[in-house]
Amino acid sequence: MTNTEGKDDKIPTHIAIIMDGNGRWAQEKGLPRTAGHKQGAENVRPILEHAKEKGVKYVTLFAFSSENWNRPKSEVNFLVDLFRRYLNEDIKDLQKQKVNISFVGSRDKFPADIVERMNDLERETASFDDFHVVLALSYGAREDIIAAIKRIALDVREQKYLISSIDEKVVNEALSTRHIPYPDLVIRTSGEQRLSNFLLWEIAYAELYFTPIYWPDFNEQDLDIAIESYGRRERRFGKV
Ligand code: IPE
Ligand code: IPE
Ligand code: MG
Repeated sequence: MTNTEGKDDKIPTHIAIIMDGNGRWAQEKGLPRTAGHKQGAENVRPILEHAKEKGVKYVTLFAFSSENWNRPKSEVNFLVDLFRRYLNEDIKDLQKQKVNISFVGSRDKFPADIVERMNDLERETASFDDFHVVLALSYGAREDIIAAIKRIALDVREQKYLISSIDEKVVNEALSTRHIPYPDLVIRTSGEQRLSNFLLWEIAYAELYFTPIYWPDFNEQDLDIAIESYGRRERRFGKV
């Protein structure tokens, strides 16, 4: 089946993934939770490559939530170091492949060198449009919506527009996700069936897919199964 643009609409344009279960993956193997985070990071590349091959255009990865700062300091520090290494090393491959890289979340909560690297990566890949990877780091949907409300309130106070002209577009433009289309499919690994403060506004009409597989074990075939499930759904958007 194709839509008006001639694109196969059985393939989601935008997949958002809640990469959950790293800790349990490790604990079940008698390893420290950090071993699960390391393995989870290594699983990012093959999944992104496969999504691209399937014709997906945007992948958003939930890697660290605004609430994850409340974990034990040792785990948070390990994760921050892992992000630093990922952004300085592993991500170079994506850049070479002309992948557009961007970030959502409160980046100013990270150390300055990481913030600088995030800004550089966004700038250096801004002109690439074939495939987009969005990393949600220190991201929380409520936090993002609150920031958007403040931005809109300021704009109204500065008389940039009237309260009566606030609509879906104005809200979208005020969110940190303004540069990406709404996700079509949300995948959560690890068996939890909740959103944990991920993209609440943006996924109002997304299809949800939950799998018991822990993120470090989620492979290309599992992604195919999730996409096939999406392809069988009838998206009605409130119509008949
Ligand atoms: C997801 O795995 C990674 C992050 C939230 C940083 P978890 O660390 O949440 O793993 P579980 O859910 O405890 O198994
Ligand atoms: C959601 O997982 C965040 C990420 C996967 C980055 P959590 O493990 O933090 O979510 P809860 O605590 O189970 O809801
Ligand atoms: Mg978890």
